[in-house]
Amino acid sequence: MHVTGWIIYNDSLPGKKFIDFAQWLEKAAIQRASNVKIMSNSELLSFLSQSELSVLTEEQPSALPDFVVFTDKDIYLAKQLELLGISVFNSSEAIRISDDKILTYQQLATAKLPIPKTIIYPKTFTSQQLKPGALQAAIHRLGFPMIVKEAFGSFGEQVYLIHNKADLIQQIKNLATKPFVLQRFISTSYGKDLRLHVVGNKVVAAMKRQSAHDFRANITAGGTMEAYEPSEEEQKLAILATQSIGADFAGVDLLVGENDSPIICEINSNAHIRNLFDATGINVATFIIDYIFKKIEGNTNA
Ligand SMILES: Nc1ncnc2c1ncn2[C@@H]1O[C@H](COP(=O)(O)OP(=O)(O)O)[C@@H](O)[C@H]1O
Ligand SMILES: [Mg+2]
Repeated sequence: MHVTGWIIYNDSLPGKKFIDFAQWLEKAAIQRASNVKIMSNSELLSFLSQSELSVLTEEQPSALPDFVVFTDKDIYLAKQLELLGISVFNSSEAIRISDDKILTYQQLATAKLPIPKTIIYPKTFTSQQLKPGALQAAIHRLGFPMIVKEAFGSFGEQVYLIHNKADLIQQIKNLATKPFVLQRFISTSYGKDLRLHVVGNKVVAAMKRQSAHDFRANITAGGTMEAYEPSEEEQKLAILATQSIGADFAGVDLLVGENDSPIICEINSNAHIRNLFDATGINVATFIIDYIFKKIEGNTNA
């Protein structure tokens, strides 16, 4: 069977980080003799009318692929491709939930999985503080230091460690109308976390990240990494977390709680894989491509 695919990335951000993941996937797909093409979301126009739902490409008429690996967060485009009957990995819905940390925590709590205690800040159209009673209740539930975390963010850049009420009020003011949560700070995990990469129902690679001078363990925030052998419990949790948002593959961040018990920090549906390769020598792209081929061939044979 001759399978064709697109690997979609976003070319609006500076740096090579974003095309990099796409290129790893492309290489893995070519090794399977698959006909794949890297496309940026900016060259694909989702067209809608009463009589037509399509994607316009330079090539006319557009030749649509059998599958798409979606390394971007442009969920409208992902959804458009799904509406055209194309298999999209991850699905637009999984990407939507993963991208929004609030939706992710709601999903994880629904699945009764361990997460830090979290309070969703009420939506506001102005920079509005909580009423004193509500603020006090939040502080009572979470304590200080406390994490303030924007719903949308990566590389640790939109995560803040807050030490007292005055700083909390200031941080709330700074965030103005952005969606965010207040969250219990897991102090046993200061400067460290675990990244487990799940593909299908298995953990294919893992690393431990540590920072000597920051509460965040992100490599981009100055953390270092080493290969890690996750426990059964950690693996099970990462797989359940991935499944709870309906993702086919994901990089799951685990915090280290009391007695080394794992706590889910976040789920990245579009996790970059180069750092993990550098730390472990494992190329996650080959697992992702194998997984997609199995799924597609399974569907065709059915
Ligand atoms: N509740 C928490 N308690 C302790 N550390 C946290 C908590 N939330 C986040 N962190 C630290 O901050 C880092 C970044 O947070 P994360 O939610 O993964 O956001 P990002 O998407 O920016 O990576 C985590 O890897 C972890 O080291
Ligand atoms: Mg993270």
